[in-house]
Amino acid sequence: MRDLCSALQNKTYFNYGGQGPLPSPSLEAIAASWSRVQELGPFTADVWPYIASEVNSTRCLLAQYCGVPPHRLALTENVTSGCVLPLWGLPFDEGDRLLIGDCEHPGVVSACVELARRQNLAIDVLPVKHLRGDQSQCDVSVVEAMAQTLTPRTRLVVLSHLLWNTGQVMPIAAVAYQLTQHPQQPFLLVDAAQSFGQIPVEEAAAADIYAFTGHKWACGPEGLGGVALSERVLAKAAPTVIGWRSLRDESKADLTSKDLFHHDSRRFEVATSCVPLMAGLRCSLQLLDNEGSAQQRWDRIRNLSSDLWQALQGLEHVKPLLEVPPASGLVSFQVDGDVPPAEHVKKLGAQGLWIRDLADPSCLRACTHITTTEEDINTLVAAISAL
Ligand SMILES: Cc1ncc(COP(=O)(O)O)c(C=O)c1O
Repeated sequence: MRDLCSALQNKTYFNYGGQGPLPSPSLEAIAASWSRVQELGPFTADVWPYIASEVNSTRCLLAQYCGVPPHRLALTENVTSGCVLPLWGLPFDEGDRLLIGDCEHPGVVSACVELARRQNLAIDVLPVKHLRGDQSQCDVSVVEAMAQTLTPRTRLVVLSHLLWNTGQVMPIAAVAYQLTQHPQQPFLLVDAAQSFGQIPVEEAAAADIYAFTGHKWACGPEGLGGVALSERVLAKAAPTVIGWRSLRDESKADLTSKDLFHHDSRRFEVATSCVPLMAGLRCSLQLLDNEGSAQQRWDRIRNLSSDLWQALQGLEHVKPLLEVPPASGLVSFQVDGDVPPAEHVKKLGAQGLWIRDLADPSCLRACTHITTTEEDINTLVAAISAL
Protein backbone atom coordinates (compact mmCIF):
# COMPACT_ATOMS: atom_id res chain seq x y z
CA MET A 1 0.00 0.00 0.00
CA ARG A 2 2.79 2.39 0.91
CA ASP A 3 4.56 1.81 -2.41
CA LEU A 4 1.33 2.66 -4.25
CA CYS A 5 1.03 6.12 -2.67
CA SER A 6 3.02 8.79 -4.49
CA ALA A 7 2.34 11.20 -1.62
CA LEU A 8 4.42 8.98 0.65
CA GLN A 9 7.46 8.78 -1.60
CA ASN A 10 8.85 12.27 -1.10
CA LYS A 11 7.96 13.11 2.50
CA THR A 12 7.46 11.64 5.96
CA TYR A 13 3.73 11.85 6.41
CA PHE A 14 1.70 11.78 9.62
CA ASN A 15 -1.44 13.72 8.62
CA TYR A 16 -3.74 10.77 7.86
CA GLY A 17 -6.39 12.28 10.15
CA GLY A 18 -6.39 15.36 7.90
CA GLN A 19 -6.27 13.55 4.58
CA GLY A 20 -5.06 10.11 3.55
CA PRO A 21 -2.79 9.60 0.52
CA LEU A 22 -4.58 8.47 -2.66
CA PRO A 23 -2.97 5.27 -4.01
CA SER A 24 -2.11 5.29 -7.74
CA PRO A 25 -4.58 2.47 -8.63
CA SER A 26 -7.38 4.59 -7.10
CA LEU A 27 -6.30 7.61 -9.12
CA GLU A 28 -6.25 5.39 -12.24
CA ALA A 29 -9.71 4.02 -11.41
CA ILE A 30 -11.03 7.60 -11.19
CA ALA A 31 -9.45 8.53 -14.54
CA ALA A 32 -10.82 5.35 -16.17
CA SER A 33 -14.31 6.05 -14.84
CA TRP A 34 -14.12 9.65 -16.06
CA SER A 35 -13.10 8.39 -19.53
CA ARG A 36 -15.98 5.92 -19.53
CA VAL A 37 -18.44 8.74 -18.76
CA GLN A 38 -17.08 10.64 -21.76
CA GLU A 39 -17.21 7.60 -24.05
CA LEU A 40 -20.79 6.76 -23.13
CA GLY A 41 -22.10 10.29 -22.52
CA PRO A 42 -21.63 12.63 -20.81
CA PHE A 43 -25.41 13.21 -21.16
CA THR A 44 -26.90 10.37 -23.21
CA ALA A 45 -29.23 7.45 -22.66
CA ASP A 46 -26.14 5.23 -22.92
CA VAL A 47 -24.43 6.64 -19.84
CA TRP A 48 -27.31 6.35 -17.33
CA PRO A 49 -26.99 2.60 -16.65
CA TYR A 50 -23.27 3.09 -16.00
CA ILE A 51 -23.94 5.98 -13.59
CA ALA A 52 -26.68 3.99 -11.84
CA SER A 53 -24.40 1.00 -11.43
CA GLU A 54 -21.56 3.15 -10.02
CA VAL A 55 -23.90 4.79 -7.51
CA ASN A 56 -25.57 1.54 -6.47
CA SER A 57 -22.39 -0.45 -6.04
CA THR A 58 -20.80 2.35 -4.00
CA ARG A 59 -23.88 2.72 -1.81
CA CYS A 60 -23.98 -1.06 -1.21
CA LEU A 61 -20.28 -1.24 -0.38
CA LEU A 62 -20.35 1.69 2.08
CA ALA A 63 -23.52 0.31 3.68
CA GLN A 64 -21.80 -3.04 4.12
CA TYR A 65 -18.85 -1.35 5.88
CA CYS A 66 -21.27 0.36 8.25
CA GLY A 67 -23.32 -2.78 8.83
CA VAL A 68 -26.56 -1.21 7.59
CA PRO A 69 -28.80 -2.07 4.61
CA PRO A 70 -28.21 0.09 1.49
CA HIS A 71 -31.49 2.01 1.84
CA ARG A 72 -30.05 3.50 5.07
CA LEU A 73 -26.87 4.85 3.43
CA ALA A 74 -26.88 8.29 1.81
CA LEU A 75 -23.94 9.34 -0.36
CA THR A 76 -22.51 12.74 0.56
CA GLU A 77 -19.42 14.78 -0.21
CA ASN A 78 -17.77 15.01 3.22
CA VAL A 79 -18.30 14.37 6.91
CA THR A 80 -19.86 17.73 7.63
CA SER A 81 -22.65 17.45 5.06
CA GLY A 82 -23.34 13.91 6.30
CA CYS A 83 -23.84 15.33 9.80
CA VAL A 84 -25.66 18.51 8.90
CA LEU A 85 -28.10 17.42 6.15
CA PRO A 86 -30.05 15.01 8.39
CA LEU A 87 -29.39 17.02 11.58
CA TRP A 88 -31.40 19.98 10.32
CA GLY A 89 -34.30 17.72 9.39
CA LEU A 90 -34.76 16.22 12.86
CA PRO A 91 -38.01 17.07 14.64
CA PHE A 92 -37.32 19.54 17.48
CA ASP A 93 -39.69 21.47 19.73
CA GLU A 94 -38.85 24.87 21.17
CA GLY A 95 -36.94 24.39 24.44
CA ASP A 96 -35.44 21.03 23.45
CA ARG A 97 -31.79 20.62 24.38
CA LEU A 98 -28.79 19.41 22.38
CA LEU A 99 -25.95 17.68 24.26
CA ILE A 100 -22.65 18.17 22.43
CA GLY A 101 -19.28 16.62 23.30
CA ASP A 102 -16.55 19.14 24.08
CA CYS A 103 -14.23 17.63 21.44
CA GLU A 104 -16.50 18.03 18.42
CA HIS A 105 -15.33 19.60 15.18
CA PRO A 106 -16.08 23.34 14.71
CA GLY A 107 -18.15 22.71 11.55
CA VAL A 108 -20.65 20.46 13.30
CA VAL A 109 -20.66 22.55 16.48
CA SER A 110 -21.45 25.73 14.58
CA ALA A 111 -24.24 23.99 12.66
CA CYS A 112 -25.75 23.05 16.04
CA VAL A 113 -25.34 26.61 17.35
CA GLU A 114 -27.20 28.05 14.35
CA LEU A 115 -29.88 25.35 14.52
CA ALA A 116 -30.38 26.14 18.21
CA ARG A 117 -30.65 29.86 17.47
CA ARG A 118 -33.25 29.38 14.75
CA GLN A 119 -35.37 26.82 16.60
CA ASN A 120 -34.95 28.13 20.15
CA LEU A 121 -33.08 25.10 21.45
CA ALA A 122 -30.56 25.04 24.29
CA ILE A 123 -27.10 23.51 24.17
CA ASP A 124 -25.43 21.50 26.94
CA VAL A 125 -21.84 20.27 26.88
CA LEU A 126 -20.70 16.71 27.49
CA PRO A 127 -17.18 16.84 29.00
CA VAL A 128 -14.90 14.21 27.40
CA LYS A 129 -11.75 16.24 26.66
CA HIS A 130 -10.25 15.43 30.06
CA LEU A 131 -10.45 11.65 29.47
CA ARG A 132 -6.84 10.70 28.93
CA GLY A 133 -6.52 7.29 30.57
CA ASP A 134 -7.22 3.65 30.02
CA GLN A 135 -10.00 2.80 27.53
CA SER A 136 -12.29 0.83 29.83
CA GLN A 137 -12.10 3.58 32.47
CA CYS A 138 -12.82 6.11 29.73
CA ASP A 139 -15.90 4.14 28.63
CA VAL A 140 -17.28 4.15 32.17
CA SER A 141 -16.56 7.88 32.55
CA VAL A 142 -18.39 8.73 29.31
CA VAL A 143 -21.51 6.88 30.43
CA GLU A 144 -21.31 8.63 33.83
CA ALA A 145 -20.82 12.04 32.19
CA MET A 146 -23.83 11.34 29.99
CA ALA A 147 -25.94 10.47 33.02
CA GLN A 148 -24.96 13.79 34.60
CA THR A 149 -25.53 16.00 31.56
CA LEU A 150 -28.64 14.47 29.98
CA THR A 151 -31.76 16.41 30.89
CA PRO A 152 -35.42 15.46 30.49
CA ARG A 153 -35.51 17.79 27.45
CA THR A 154 -32.39 16.44 25.69
CA ARG A 155 -33.41 15.57 22.14
CA LEU A 156 -30.03 15.02 20.47
CA VAL A 157 -26.53 13.91 21.51
CA VAL A 158 -23.56 14.74 19.26
CA LEU A 159 -20.40 12.72 19.87
CA SER A 160 -17.52 11.61 17.64
CA HIS A 161 -16.62 7.94 17.45
CA LEU A 162 -12.96 8.84 17.78
CA LEU A 163 -12.03 12.24 19.21
CA TRP A 164 -9.96 14.13 16.64
CA ASN A 165 -7.89 16.00 19.24
CA THR A 166 -7.13 13.57 22.08
CA GLY A 167 -7.49 10.34 20.06
CA GLN A 168 -9.83 8.67 22.57
CA VAL A 169 -12.38 6.18 21.25
CA MET A 170 -15.92 6.86 22.49
CA PRO A 171 -18.15 3.92 23.57
CA ILE A 172 -20.82 4.59 20.94
CA ALA A 173 -22.77 1.36 21.48
CA ALA A 174 -23.00 2.01 25.24
CA VAL A 175 -24.08 5.61 24.65
CA ALA A 176 -26.71 4.48 22.13
CA TYR A 177 -28.04 1.95 24.64
CA GLN A 178 -28.12 4.61 27.38
CA LEU A 179 -30.22 6.85 25.12
CA THR A 180 -32.78 4.08 24.55
CA GLN A 181 -33.37 4.17 28.34
CA HIS A 182 -34.11 7.94 28.33
CA PRO A 183 -37.81 8.92 28.25
CA GLN A 184 -37.23 11.27 25.25
CA GLN A 185 -35.17 8.68 23.32
CA PRO A 186 -32.75 11.38 22.10
CA PHE A 187 -31.23 11.02 18.65
CA LEU A 188 -27.51 10.17 18.47
CA LEU A 189 -25.35 11.88 15.85
CA VAL A 190 -21.86 10.41 15.48
CA ASP A 191 -19.06 12.16 13.60
CA ALA A 192 -17.04 9.28 12.15
CA ALA A 193 -14.39 11.39 10.41
CA GLN A 194 -11.55 9.71 12.28
CA SER A 195 -12.99 6.21 12.56
CA PHE A 196 -14.10 5.16 9.06
CA GLY A 197 -11.21 3.32 7.41
CA GLN A 198 -9.28 3.19 10.66
CA ILE A 199 -11.28 1.14 13.17
CA PRO A 200 -14.20 -1.29 12.75
CA VAL A 201 -17.36 0.79 12.40
CA GLU A 202 -20.27 -1.67 12.69
CA GLU A 203 -21.26 0.25 15.82
CA ALA A 204 -22.65 2.64 13.22
CA ALA A 205 -25.84 0.66 13.27
CA ALA A 206 -26.37 1.85 16.85
CA ALA A 207 -26.30 5.56 15.97
CA ASP A 208 -29.08 7.52 14.27
CA ILE A 209 -26.68 9.51 12.11
CA TYR A 210 -23.20 8.09 11.45
CA ALA A 211 -21.37 10.43 9.08
CA PHE A 212 -18.01 9.71 7.47
CA THR A 213 -15.74 10.67 4.61
CA GLY A 214 -13.64 8.61 2.23
CA HIS A 215 -10.72 11.02 2.08
CA LYS A 216 -9.10 10.48 5.46
CA TRP A 217 -8.32 6.99 6.83
CA ALA A 218 -9.94 5.20 3.86
CA CYS A 219 -7.39 6.87 1.54
CA GLY A 220 -10.06 7.74 -1.03
CA PRO A 221 -10.41 10.95 -3.03
CA GLU A 222 -11.64 14.17 -1.42
CA GLY A 223 -15.29 14.97 -2.25
CA LEU A 224 -17.00 11.67 -1.44
CA GLY A 225 -18.40 10.41 1.85
CA GLY A 226 -21.52 8.87 3.27
CA VAL A 227 -23.89 8.79 6.19
CA ALA A 228 -25.63 5.79 7.73
CA LEU A 229 -29.10 6.66 9.03
CA SER A 230 -31.40 4.85 11.44
CA GLU A 231 -34.91 3.80 10.41
CA ARG A 232 -36.38 6.40 12.75
CA VAL A 233 -34.34 9.18 11.15
CA LEU A 234 -35.68 8.07 7.75
CA ALA A 235 -39.20 8.08 9.13
CA LYS A 236 -39.06 11.28 11.19
CA ALA A 237 -36.48 13.64 9.63
CA ALA A 238 -37.55 15.97 6.83
CA PRO A 239 -35.21 16.55 3.89
CA THR A 240 -33.24 19.78 4.23
CA VAL A 241 -31.11 20.82 1.26
CA ILE A 242 -33.48 19.57 -1.42
CA GLY A 243 -32.70 18.75 -5.04
CA TRP A 244 -33.76 16.37 -7.79
CA ARG A 245 -31.96 13.44 -6.19
CA SER A 246 -34.15 13.83 -3.09
CA LEU A 247 -37.29 13.27 -5.19
CA ARG A 248 -39.16 10.02 -5.75
CA ASP A 249 -39.89 11.24 -9.28
CA GLU A 250 -36.91 13.32 -10.29
CA SER A 251 -38.52 14.42 -13.56
CA LYS A 252 -41.10 16.72 -11.96
CA ALA A 253 -41.94 18.42 -8.69
CA ASP A 254 -45.70 18.15 -8.39
CA LEU A 255 -46.98 21.26 -6.59
CA THR A 256 -49.88 19.36 -5.05
CA SER A 257 -48.03 16.20 -4.00
CA LYS A 258 -47.73 15.49 -0.29
CA ASP A 259 -45.22 12.71 -0.93
CA LEU A 260 -42.42 14.19 -3.02
CA PHE A 261 -39.36 12.72 -1.36
CA HIS A 262 -37.68 9.34 -1.28
CA HIS A 263 -38.58 7.43 1.87
CA ASP A 264 -35.05 6.03 2.10
CA SER A 265 -31.67 7.72 2.62
CA ARG A 266 -31.83 9.37 -0.81
CA ARG A 267 -34.13 12.04 0.66
CA PHE A 268 -30.86 13.56 1.97
CA GLU A 269 -29.05 13.47 -1.37
CA VAL A 270 -29.17 16.64 -3.40
CA ALA A 271 -28.13 16.91 -7.05
CA THR A 272 -25.25 16.35 -9.50
CA SER A 273 -22.04 15.14 -7.89
CA CYS A 274 -18.78 13.64 -9.08
CA VAL A 275 -19.46 10.00 -10.01
CA PRO A 276 -15.87 9.06 -11.07
CA LEU A 277 -14.69 9.54 -7.47
CA MET A 278 -16.73 6.48 -6.53
CA ALA A 279 -14.45 4.09 -8.41
CA GLY A 280 -11.50 5.66 -6.58
CA LEU A 281 -12.97 5.15 -3.11
CA ARG A 282 -14.00 1.56 -3.86
CA CYS A 283 -10.48 0.86 -5.10
CA SER A 284 -8.89 2.35 -1.96
CA LEU A 285 -11.16 0.31 0.31
CA GLN A 286 -10.20 -2.83 -1.61
CA LEU A 287 -6.50 -2.00 -1.29
CA LEU A 288 -6.92 -1.57 2.48
CA ASP A 289 -8.78 -4.88 2.72
CA ASN A 290 -5.93 -6.54 0.84
CA GLU A 291 -3.67 -5.54 3.73
CA GLY A 292 -5.73 -7.41 6.35
CA SER A 293 -9.08 -7.39 8.13
CA ALA A 294 -10.31 -4.19 9.79
CA GLN A 295 -9.28 -5.65 13.16
CA GLN A 296 -5.79 -6.60 11.93
CA ARG A 297 -5.26 -3.15 10.43
CA TRP A 298 -6.42 -1.47 13.64
CA ASP A 299 -3.96 -3.64 15.61
CA ARG A 300 -1.14 -2.61 13.27
CA ILE A 301 -2.09 1.07 13.52
CA ARG A 302 -2.16 0.80 17.34
CA ASN A 303 1.22 -0.96 17.48
CA LEU A 304 2.72 1.89 15.50
CA SER A 305 0.99 4.65 17.48
CA SER A 306 2.04 2.94 20.69
CA ASP A 307 5.69 2.96 19.54
CA LEU A 308 5.41 6.64 18.72
CA TRP A 309 3.64 7.44 22.01
CA GLN A 310 6.31 5.55 23.97
CA ALA A 311 9.18 7.31 22.19
CA LEU A 312 7.57 10.73 22.76
CA GLN A 313 6.95 9.84 26.38
CA GLY A 314 10.70 9.29 26.69
CA LEU A 315 11.53 12.85 25.58
CA GLU A 316 11.99 15.22 28.50
CA HIS A 317 10.34 18.26 26.90
CA VAL A 318 7.40 16.40 25.32
CA LYS A 319 4.13 15.30 26.94
CA PRO A 320 1.65 13.07 25.10
CA LEU A 321 -1.98 14.06 25.85
CA LEU A 322 -2.93 10.48 26.67
CA GLU A 323 -1.60 8.81 29.80
CA VAL A 324 -1.67 5.37 28.15
CA PRO A 325 -0.78 4.18 24.63
CA PRO A 326 -3.47 5.42 22.23
CA ALA A 327 -6.43 3.23 21.24
CA SER A 328 -6.12 4.65 17.72
CA GLY A 329 -3.54 6.03 15.30
CA LEU A 330 -3.89 9.59 16.63
CA VAL A 331 -0.98 10.64 18.83
CA SER A 332 -1.38 14.13 20.27
CA PHE A 333 1.29 15.77 22.37
CA GLN A 334 2.54 19.04 23.76
CA VAL A 335 6.06 20.43 23.63
CA ASP A 336 7.29 22.48 26.60
CA GLY A 337 8.18 26.11 26.02
CA ASP A 338 6.70 29.26 24.51
CA VAL A 339 6.94 28.32 20.83
CA PRO A 340 3.42 28.10 19.32
CA PRO A 341 2.60 24.60 17.95
CA ALA A 342 2.11 26.06 14.44
CA GLU A 343 5.78 27.12 14.47
CA HIS A 344 6.86 23.57 15.28
CA VAL A 345 4.71 22.32 12.38
CA LYS A 346 6.43 24.77 10.04
CA LYS A 347 9.87 23.77 11.25
CA LEU A 348 9.19 20.04 10.84
CA GLY A 349 7.57 20.69 7.45
CA ALA A 350 10.79 22.35 6.29
CA GLN A 351 12.45 18.98 6.97
CA GLY A 352 9.81 17.09 4.97
CA LEU A 353 8.02 15.85 8.09
CA TRP A 354 4.28 16.54 8.18
CA ILE A 355 2.22 16.68 11.35
CA ARG A 356 -0.43 19.25 12.33
CA ASP A 357 -1.31 21.52 15.21
CA LEU A 358 -4.69 21.69 16.92
CA ALA A 359 -6.21 24.59 18.81
CA ASP A 360 -8.16 22.95 21.63
CA PRO A 361 -6.42 21.56 23.54
CA SER A 362 -3.43 23.35 22.03
CA CYS A 363 -1.18 20.53 20.84
CA LEU A 364 0.54 18.78 17.94
CA ARG A 365 -0.88 15.65 16.34
CA ALA A 366 0.89 12.89 14.42
CA CYS A 367 -1.10 9.96 13.01
CA THR A 368 0.12 6.47 12.19
CA HIS A 369 -1.61 4.41 9.48
CA ILE A 370 -0.79 0.95 8.15
CA THR A 371 1.52 2.67 5.66
CA THR A 372 3.66 4.14 8.46
CA THR A 373 7.09 2.56 9.02
CA GLU A 374 9.30 2.35 12.10
CA GLU A 375 11.75 4.49 10.16
CA ASP A 376 9.10 7.22 9.77
CA ILE A 377 8.58 7.13 13.52
CA ASN A 378 12.30 7.27 14.31
CA THR A 379 12.78 10.20 11.94
CA LEU A 380 9.91 12.11 13.53
CA VAL A 381 11.02 11.40 17.09
CA ALA A 382 14.58 12.51 16.28
CA ALA A 383 13.27 15.76 14.78
CA ILE A 384 10.96 16.41 17.74
CA SER A 385 13.71 15.71 20.22
CA ALA A 386 15.75 18.41 18.46
CA LEU A 387 12.95 21.01 18.63
C1 LIG B 1 -13.73 15.00 13.63
C2 LIG B 1 -13.86 15.73 12.34
N1 LIG B 1 -15.08 16.13 11.93
C3 LIG B 1 -15.25 16.77 10.76
C4 LIG B 1 -14.20 17.08 9.96
C5 LIG B 1 -14.47 17.80 8.68
O1 LIG B 1 -14.39 16.90 7.62
P1 LIG B 1 -15.04 17.19 6.21
O2 LIG B 1 -14.24 18.28 5.59
O3 LIG B 1 -14.96 15.89 5.47
O4 LIG B 1 -16.44 17.61 6.45
C6 LIG B 1 -12.90 16.69 10.34
C7 LIG B 1 -11.74 17.03 9.51
O5 LIG B 1 -10.63 17.05 9.95
C8 LIG B 1 -12.74 16.00 11.56
O6 LIG B 1 -11.53 15.62 11.99
